[in-house]
Amino acid sequence: MIVLEINNVNFSYDDEKVVDDISLAFDKGDFAAFVGPNGSGKSTLIKMITGNLKPDQGEIKIFDQLVNRVKDWTKIGYISQQVRDFNQSFPATVREIIASNLYGKMGIIKVMTSSLESEILQALKLVDMESFIDRKIGNLSGGQQQRVFIARMMVNNPDLILLDEPLVGVDIKAQDDFYQIIGDINHNLGKTVIMVSHDVNLISKEANKIVCFDEGKAFPHQSNDFDYDHYIEGLRDTSIRIIPEHGH
Ligand SMILES: Nc1ncnc2c1ncn2[C@@H]1O[C@H](COP(=O)(O)OP(=O)(O)O)[C@@H](O)[C@H]1O
Ligand SMILES: [Mg+2]
Repeated sequence: MIVLEINNVNFSYDDEKVVDDISLAFDKGDFAAFVGPNGSGKSTLIKMITGNLKPDQGEIKIFDQLVNRVKDWTKIGYISQQVRDFNQSFPATVREIIASNLYGKMGIIKVMTSSLESEILQALKLVDMESFIDRKIGNLSGGQQQRVFIARMMVNNPDLILLDEPLVGVDIKAQDDFYQIIGDINHNLGKTVIMVSHDVNLISKEANKIVCFDEGKAFPHQSNDFDYDHYIEGLRDTSIRIIPEHGH
């Protein structure tokens, strides 16, 4: 079953084309890694998938529905590149952060029912953070905050999960935990995951598809026939262009 279909999508900021005729498709249960240098168009494509930007040309379908027709966004979970940049003194508790994603289910007067409370606890359990429910988000470590944001996303039980560089600024141990949690969500719950990452080696253990971005183009690979060494070399040596290697 195709969960996400991207057909001949183009996007320019002013005169600069940053997404150049990209076509990709992802099946239920895929774990796809978006890799490639800064400025290659990864975040711009993610923003079009989440309806935050509109393609100049082409179409994007989620669960066979055009993005601009999607009404129920709870089936799509998204952690943006900006989310972790919130003010560290933000006074909300973990419960409130997660509840803020349940407003649609709360009714007009935003009452927290016991069934919503148990959904919050269940989401926290998924990331092993139940005991932190009353803690202030600003007092948690970067890795713990990241887990709370996963719980916030998972409380709506999304089928498609989009993560834009969620691991910038978190330590190695927290990165390992993060991959473990997202890997479990992918394998055990059958969720489709798309994650932008700089760490090709780490993500290759979880991802079954690797999509290389370069100057607005996207090149999909199966992770078992992806040439990591060559990819890393290409990143280190800017004189080696990645594009010609995708001619096959
Ligand atoms: N809001 C914006 N206005 C103008 N240019 C932008 C904007 N956001 C991104 N860009 C440019 O678009 C290109 C692609 O950016 P982006 O999609 O963020 O790349 P990536 O996520 O791969 O690093 C870059 O050249 C970037 O400078
Ligand atoms: Mg980006």
